[in-house]
Amino acid sequence: MPSKLGGRGGRGRLDRDFEQFKRALPRDFPAHVRDTYRIDLSARYLGEPIPHPIGKGSGQLSLNAGQLETDAEAGLAFAVLKTVIAQDAAGAQSMAAWAIHETKMKVERRGDGWTVTWKGRGWDRSFQEYLALVRVGRDFTRAGRLLAVPSVKYHLPRLDEPFRDAEYAFATRALADAWGEPPLLLEKDFSPTLAGDPLAEEKPQILRWLREVPERIRAHAPVRLAVKVMNARFDDAFQLEMIAAARHADMLVVFNRLFDSKQGVAYGGPELSDRNLRVLAQLTPGGSPGIPELSGTGNIHSGRMIVEYARRGCSSVQVYTFFQLPLEEYAASEGSRTQRALHQLVFDPVDGVVAAMLDLEARGALERRGGELHFLDLGSHAYRPG
Ligand SMILES: Cc1cc2nc3c(=O)[nH]c(=O)nc-3n(C[C@H](O)[C@H](O)[C@H](O)COP(=O)(O)O)c2cc1C
Repeated sequence: MPSKLGGRGGRGRLDRDFEQFKRALPRDFPAHVRDTYRIDLSARYLGEPIPHPIGKGSGQLSLNAGQLETDAEAGLAFAVLKTVIAQDAAGAQSMAAWAIHETKMKVERRGDGWTVTWKGRGWDRSFQEYLALVRVGRDFTRAGRLLAVPSVKYHLPRLDEPFRDAEYAFATRALADAWGEPPLLLEKDFSPTLAGDPLAEEKPQILRWLREVPERIRAHAPVRLAVKVMNARFDDAFQLEMIAAARHADMLVVFNRLFDSKQGVAYGGPELSDRNLRVLAQLTPGGSPGIPELSGTGNIHSGRMIVEYARRGCSSVQVYTFFQLPLEEYAASEGSRTQRALHQLVFDPVDGVVAAMLDLEARGALERRGGELHFLDLGSHAYRPG
């Protein structure tokens, strides 16, 4: 039987909130959701409690202090900084091919979703400038305004080559020093452009990276590590093998964009979320033994999609493209893109997180505990194929 809030009353209230918040989203919207709908949106990112599950994936939308300020102001839960390319003490970068600048970014429709076409790769300014951004992120984090996490791409060897530890050592220590108080929270990026590189043509080579990279990084500083797993150009079974190989990380970001080898570009949209959700559904419900925390990414443009990732075990999500749409695509009429996107993801009366969780309750697929629905309970109701 639908609860009082899942019935007419809750829905009418949701319509009104959605309308009203088009002009201004309250910064502490998780408190509003808890008071009004008795829904606890608390979530988790790399072991840290966060007030709701929605963060920003690494990319061009987390390059500077101004963007972090806007995100903190909007009430975003976390932001992953643009990926920097590691270097050794002398400034040598084995992955230098990824540290290139490219300005052409095109937001376009793909199926019934969106994709940003972009050929550029990592951070293209100096490592020192990146460290300055990390210190700004640290200050936001310490002030409790926004969890801001750096992201790195380190040297990846061929099977018969050793890891270049000098790069792992210098970059990890420099980031840890910039961060200060341990542990450093860090994402290691295995990107779609890497998936399209000849380096990633051999399965044993990729599996070795995923197995060995966490210890290579942790050898140099106390790091809590998220590995952002790419969509390799192999089948779904190999995605699962990659997850198993990377289980020594503290968290896995699942999964970075697809690679179109004909056009030489990475892309998102519905094909990306279809693949990601299909692969995640094959993990054992309730968390396969030994699988670390999961953070979902890929074609998240509705609260309903957030709930789909959460039901397959993700305790947070990382949105990118939906934060970069043309302004007229958002329902809200005022506020930053981050605010407008959050407004829609949370309060849309049909497809928002609140609506999707109330629907699950009405269908008997999610129960209240202590009178509340809990976002983190979605994972324990994990999707079972068949
Ligand atoms: C223009 C652009 C730049 C990106 N840069 C990075 C990056 O530097 N590091 C990274 O880990 N992911 C990067 N991503 C991937 C996003 O963080 C995100 O995981 C991915 O786009 C899927 O989410 P979405 O479908 O919401 O865009 C980038 C994506 C785009 C579109």
